[in-house]
Amino acid sequence: MCGIIGYVGKNNSAPYIIDGLKKLEYRGYDSAGISILQDEKIVTVRAVGKVAELEKATLIVNPQGNTGIGHTRWATHGKPSEENSHPHWDCTGELVVVHNGIIENYLTLREKLQKLGHTFQSETDTEVIAHLIEENLIHTRAVSNEEQLIKAVQKTNTQIAGAFAIGVMWAHTPGMLVGVKNQSPLVVGLGKEENFLASDVPAFLRHTNRALFLEDGEMVILHAGNVTVLDVKGQEKKVKPTKISWDQKTAEKGGYAHFMIKEIYDQPQALEDTLRTAQTDFAKLLGVDDAALRQLRNIHIIACGTAYHAGLVGKYYLEQLAGIPTSVDLASEYKYRTVPSFEHTLAIAISQSGETADTIGAIKKAKKLGFQTLAICNVLGSTLTRICDGTFFTHCGPEISVASTKAFTSQITAMFALALCLGKANGNTSETDFNKYAKLLTGLPKDMAQTVKMEYDVRHLTRKIYKADRFIFLGRHVNFPIALEGALKLKEVSYRSAEGFAAGEIKHGPISIIDKGTPVFILMPHDDLFEKMLSACQECRARGAQVVSITTQDGVKQAQDVADQVFTVPATGELLQPILNVVPLQFLAYWIAKRLDCDIDQPRNLAKSVTVE
Ligand code: G6P
Repeated sequence: MCGIIGYVGKNNSAPYIIDGLKKLEYRGYDSAGISILQDEKIVTVRAVGKVAELEKATLIVNPQGNTGIGHTRWATHGKPSEENSHPHWDCTGELVVVHNGIIENYLTLREKLQKLGHTFQSETDTEVIAHLIEENLIHTRAVSNEEQLIKAVQKTNTQIAGAFAIGVMWAHTPGMLVGVKNQSPLVVGLGKEENFLASDVPAFLRHTNRALFLEDGEMVILHAGNVTVLDVKGQEKKVKPTKISWDQKTAEKGGYAHFMIKEIYDQPQALEDTLRTAQTDFAKLLGVDDAALRQLRNIHIIACGTAYHAGLVGKYYLEQLAGIPTSVDLASEYKYRTVPSFEHTLAIAISQSGETADTIGAIKKAKKLGFQTLAICNVLGSTLTRICDGTFFTHCGPEISVASTKAFTSQITAMFALALCLGKANGNTSETDFNKYAKLLTGLPKDMAQTVKMEYDVRHLTRKIYKADRFIFLGRHVNFPIALEGALKLKEVSYRSAEGFAAGEIKHGPISIIDKGTPVFILMPHDDLFEKMLSACQECRARGAQVVSITTQDGVKQAQDVADQVFTVPATGELLQPILNVVPLQFLAYWIAKRLDCDIDQPRNLAKSVTVE
């Protein structure tokens, strides 16, 4: 898991590459490197740590050249070190490679290449690519250096197995870069007299909003003035550029201290944008007719991390509104369990990035089983969206903070809209209920705008509790996944120990860890389960817990009798309440992490999109 970038144009490439790498840091940030073609020689600078370290080192070396590649790494093979940082080079030092993904047959290839006399400098799988291209260059005849490199890379592409997006630069082909894509993302940015190769759009968005999304098996050749895409068979292919509507400002922090807090505040707009998509026709999205929608008998939801929690909420929606039995699996589990194959099954993959390897693997399995597939995804052109039969784009804008916030509430909103449409199509939701829910959905962005005003109160509370060793979150029904998400958010950004439980379960074990002063957050909107949640408050309080109740206006009075602190969230319908209830927990995680001086947007050991299994 890494970010790659390449630049070829009229200007000195180093500043473009460094800037692009900063935008790609969410993909990994344990080391970074840059190679610039300067006077037919490759100058490489690499540094352990974030891109800022590489930037300092690059300023000292000050390489000059208008063709270059760069990489920000999240280690998979070999520890984060300068030797293992990309770019990696061949024996001649004239060919450099950056890579995102995993080369599965690298050990076999490495042994073969070593027998042929190649010497390796790193522990990475990537380095075999450079040596393999070198070997293929020796055996390739061509009329020009450019053709020779293209042919050698094409051959290499057939010899390596796994997931990869690769950028290649050769000292003998100045002004040219080659890229290859297979199961890892690779996008081309089309500028004026300059072109970019990158793992994701924000890397070049400052310079152009015209992008080419490559398919698996494709290769791309970039010059300053033109870009050529070759399909799997090596034939030239016309690809229509996509106009990206996100501008650079949207992709940046917009004045907030961190992306995480900005993205929490983005939520009213994000929901508005998601709901715009929700008005589309699901049958059309899936490429089926209404009759096929009515026939659906099973739904499998597949996701990882925060998206999995959105899926758990979605199960309640689909079963209640559409009456369709729904299972929710962690993608990494779905891939390896026996999944009985039933007709009329829809598999829904939820993923912010659309690049999570486990989710992609699981949806491929669902496809093999003959299921209809739908992605709920935020990233245009991502791998997942190209595999699935249809995609509901959440359109909530780029989410840069590793800890997911606005993507989560958008995913739940999308699930609700989907369940509602399915329920209407199969008659499980009456016209009256449909209209009632549709009205609540429309009001959601406004409710969210009201909810984000809670930051001050939550922030104030964190001053008292941020040093606690352990935090507990309780919820029931649709709010149970929110308890899980509250705990996950806190763990991710503050490294505190936190657990979420179904409130009814605490007496079956978890209550034993509640101690004097343990902060316990209880999600208890004033609904049918409110009385039961009051009992949960009392049980925790009796063990000395500091009880924080998250309720709606009608529950405040009773909550005050049993809790040390009460937060009031605007009331929406019972089913939609989780979308608002998670907000105080997002603020909580943010402020505890801030008080503990944690690296909020890029927590230790985590990465935004996990593109390896
Ligand atoms: C990583 C991130 C999580 C995210 C999960 C799923 O683990 O750290 O924040 O929820 O991946 O990502 P996806 O892009 O598939 O939603």
